[in-house]
This record gives sequence, C-alpha cells and structure tokens, in this order.
Amino acid sequence: MVTGFAGKTVFVSGGTSGINLGIAQHFARCGARIFVISRDPAKVTAAVQGLIDLGAEADGMSADVRHYDQVAAAMDRCAELFGEIDILVSGAAGNFLAKAEDITSNGFRAVMEIDVLGTHHVMHAAFPHLRKPGACILNISAPQGSVAMVGQSHVCAAKSGIDMLTRALALEWGPKGIRVNSVSPGPIADTEGQKRLVPNPAAVEERVNAIPLKRMGTLNDVAELCAFLASDKASYITGAIIPVDGGTTLNPTPTRMAQFLED
Ligand code: NAP
Ligand code: COA
Repeated sequence: MVTGFAGKTVFVSGGTSGINLGIAQHFARCGARIFVISRDPAKVTAAVQGLIDLGAEADGMSADVRHYDQVAAAMDRCAELFGEIDILVSGAAGNFLAKAEDITSNGFRAVMEIDVLGTHHVMHAAFPHLRKPGACILNISAPQGSVAMVGQSHVCAAKSGIDMLTRALALEWGPKGIRVNSVSPGPIADTEGQKRLVPNPAAVEERVNAIPLKRMGTLNDVAELCAFLASDKASYITGAIIPVDGGTTLNPTPTRMAQFLED
C-alpha cells in the first residue's frame, strides 16, 4: 500500500458507491481527510459514516454534478472544513446499454451532462481551492473513451470527452503545479456499471473470457493506481489516460455484447 496521505484533503464526486467509494476508502485508510458528493442524501450519509468508521475525518453533501451551484457549494464547504484540496477525483457518471437508434435526445444529454459537463463543473469549481502547486486531479474514465463498444455510443462520446478535458487541463494547469490524469478502469466486479453492461451470468463469463488477464478487476486495483498517481512517485505524470483494465482495451467487445446489436 502507498502511505503518506496523512493531512491531505481528498474530494470525490460520485464518491458514495462502487469504484469511487473504494477510492475514497483507500485514501481514508492512508490517513487523508475525505469529502464526498452524490445526489442521494442517504448514500452520502452512509458513505461518510463508513469513512469515519475507518478512522478518517470525513464529510459530504448531496449535490448533482450537472448543477454548477451545487458543486461549487460543496467545494466551498470542503475547503471550509478541510482546507485546500490536494486530490480531486471526478467519478460521477451515468451509463446504460442501448443501441444508438434507441437513445433519445434526453438520454444522450443525461450521460453527457453527468460525465462531461459534470467533470468540467467539478474541476472548475475546485480550481480556487486546489493546492497550487501540488494538487492532483484524477478523472475516472473507461475503455469506452479510447475504443468503440456496441450499445455504448453515448458513453464513448462522454468518456472520450472526459479524456480530452484531462489533456487540455493538464496543458493549461501544468504551469500552476496541478497534474491532471484519467484513470480508466476495465470491468470491475460487483459494481453498478457491470450490472448494467453484463446483466446475467452467461454475459459475465463471456466478458471475463474476453479480458486478456482473465478476471474482472477489483475496487482495490483501481484505488491502488489512484494512490500511486496522487503520490510523489508520480510527480512527472500528467495528461495521461492510464488503463487499469486487465487489457480490456485491447479486446473491448465480447461476442455477446456484439450480438446485442442483432437482438
Ligand atoms: P456507481 O456505484 O453507480 O457510481 C456512480 C456514482 O456517481 C454514485 O455514487 C452516484 O451516486 C454518483 N452520481 C451519479 N450521477 C450523479 C450526478 N448527476 N451527480 C452527482 N453524483 C452522481 O458506479 P460504478 O460502476 O462504481 O462507476 C463509478 C465510476 O467508474 C464511473 O465514472 C464509471 O463510468 C467508471 N467505470 C466503471 C466501471 C465498472 O466496471 N463499474 C468500468 C469503467 C469505468 P448517486 O446515485 O447518489 O448520485
Ligand atoms: N435505454 C435507453 N434510454 C435510457 C435508459 C436505457 N436503459 N435508461 C435511461 N434512459 C433514458 C431515459 O429514458 C430518459 O430519456 P427520455 O426522457 O427521453 O425517456 C433519459 O435516459 C434520462 O433518464 P432519467 O432517469 O430521467 O435521468 P436521470 O438523470 O434520473 O438518470 C441515468 C441518469 C439515466 C444515467 C441513470 O441511469 C443514473 O442515474 N445513473 C447513475 C448510476 C450509473 O449509471 N452507474 C453506473 C456508472 S458506470
């Protein structure tokens, strides 16, 4: 485990479940103070209590990343409680499996607004509170940002948008001492994302068989990469899209997912 996050402040959007909560919990175990946001107040309360139970100073707020004023209020509250933000994780996202011709304007907009506009909101609203120099931003992407997948046109558009935001902000904010990277998890076991993309045991088996390393990832696989990227050991890494996907990006679409188009 990478240690040494004592006294650091970590803000995680979408940090109340799944992969993002796993990242928040990992930083909590490494001594950091954590602030999480998501829409559902009950999820926020449960996540914050869980982080406190791990021994961390933690707080959170209900906020929808599509609404700038809500994100800005959460950043202000985090900075008021915990000071400058050292590590900013933008992980809120939306996904569902749908053929392009079945995605309504509102469905496409929902995913673009949560993922792309939301990531802009999170980075923009955090900017006055980011430690300069020294802050590290981790945008949670996906293989869909780099390779096409069937039933995922909206997510491909959204995650590739996030990856370009990562590169553009790394370019603009590098001189201020802020590093910006994307972390791109492959299929992670027991997550909402996988329930939506591989909804039955046969699809799970096929998904796993298509992964070069022949297993789904774990929450810890993603959290360990985030901890490395946020550490001094990664102080020369910025503007990178870093997979933690068992090689999924090399072989993105299992046959059954491709057959989804025929059904
Ligand atoms: P998840 O548990 O559903 O996490 C999504 C989080 O975002 C939840 O905390 C959700 O909480 C929050 N959220 C959703 N819409 C929001 C909004 N408009 N404003 C604020 N918060 C919002 O799903 P997950 O599978 O762990 O995915 C987490 C991240 O990993 C996502 O960025 C996803 O694209 C990425 N990823 C996942 C996988 C995978 O295998 N699961 C693979 C690659 C990438 P509320 O409902 O309370 O808002
Ligand atoms: N196929 C096609 N369209 C779908 C869909 C599906 N499976 N699920 C939702 N949509 C469409 C809806 O029909 C709606 O469009 P319409 O008004 O034209 O009918 C649009 O998406 C918005 O849905 P709504 O439920 O009103 O939006 P929301 O803002 O409450 O939720 C989602 C956003 C749809 C992304 C929702 O799935 C969500 O909240 N996801 C967060 C959790 C998540 O996705 N976790 C996994 C991350 S990888």
